[in-house]
Amino acid sequence: MAQAKRSVRTRRGASARKRPPPPQFTAKTADKHVLYQLSVQDAAVEVDFIVKAYQRVHRRAPRTLREDFCGTSLICCHWVKSDPARSATGVDIDPKVLAWGRKHNVAPLGDAAERITLLQADVRAKSARKFDAICAFNFSYWIFTTRDAMRDYFQRVRAGLAPGGIFCLDSYGGWESVEPMYERRSIKRKFTYVWDQDSFDPITHRVVNYIHFEFKDGTKLEKAFRYDWRFWSLPELRELLEEAGFSRVDVYWDRSESEDEEDYRPTTRASNHPGWLAYLVAVR
Ligand SMILES: C[S@@+](CC[C@H](N)C(=O)[O-])C[C@H]1O[C@@H](n2cnc3c(N)ncnc32)[C@H](O)[C@@H]1O
Repeated sequence: MAQAKRSVRTRRGASARKRPPPPQFTAKTADKHVLYQLSVQDAAVEVDFIVKAYQRVHRRAPRTLREDFCGTSLICCHWVKSDPARSATGVDIDPKVLAWGRKHNVAPLGDAAERITLLQADVRAKSARKFDAICAFNFSYWIFTTRDAMRDYFQRVRAGLAPGGIFCLDSYGGWESVEPMYERRSIKRKFTYVWDQDSFDPITHRVVNYIHFEFKDGTKLEKAFRYDWRFWSLPELRELLEEAGFSRVDVYWDRSESEDEEDYRPTTRASNHPGWLAYLVAVR
């Protein structure tokens, strides 16, 4: 009996050596939301940023978060996991991505899932609750393409904040961010993420960008995500946040000397850079 078992194991091992297991990610098998999360989201870093920005204004830690354009609600999940006193509300207009997030991110949290509410709604819908912090990350709010539409969204965010609440959003720029280009990044040596800056209109500032994924077996997931945005500048966004009634708006600029680390701090002047990311933090 023991001998038979051993020989079975040996045969399995031999055949595994001859034929390596198929790659984990291929265009046929990969889930685009998993690829997206691995490529462009670091929810632990975002949560840490929000908490620290809030604590610059208040002595206490924030408890309630609204994640606008939440997609798979990854930030909501990290928020409630990071502290049992925290609760989060994710808002997204697309029921399919919310369902994906519920199944793959929220349900595995167990009891902590009860502290998450997911709303299928427009981010401009009236908010029944007030939050310590609201975030809109990965430039999703750039879908608003006029000053009036952007100010209107900012006013609605402000109305959804508790007194002294903060609104955290991100922005990108630099001359490389308006040129047609492909930026390739290997993700955990398992697949390649491709950021495709397809077009930029210098008159309207309309930009169209795509995310593609390429796999080790040579297959590709082209145009997995498409973004049709207005490219906004930091001064425009600051002015609109102020016009929307926020009492203070800080730009957090990456002050790290190292390419591999980030150190975002409130900054009033910066030297020019070919491609940068920055945060804005607006206090109600
Ligand atoms: C780029 S994804 C952002 C995912 C995630 N928040 C992140 O940081 O990477 C943009 C999301 O915004 C949602 N969306 C677009 N317009 C919206 C609107 N007016 N109200 C709410 N959600 C919207 C889309 O359904 C999509 O899931």
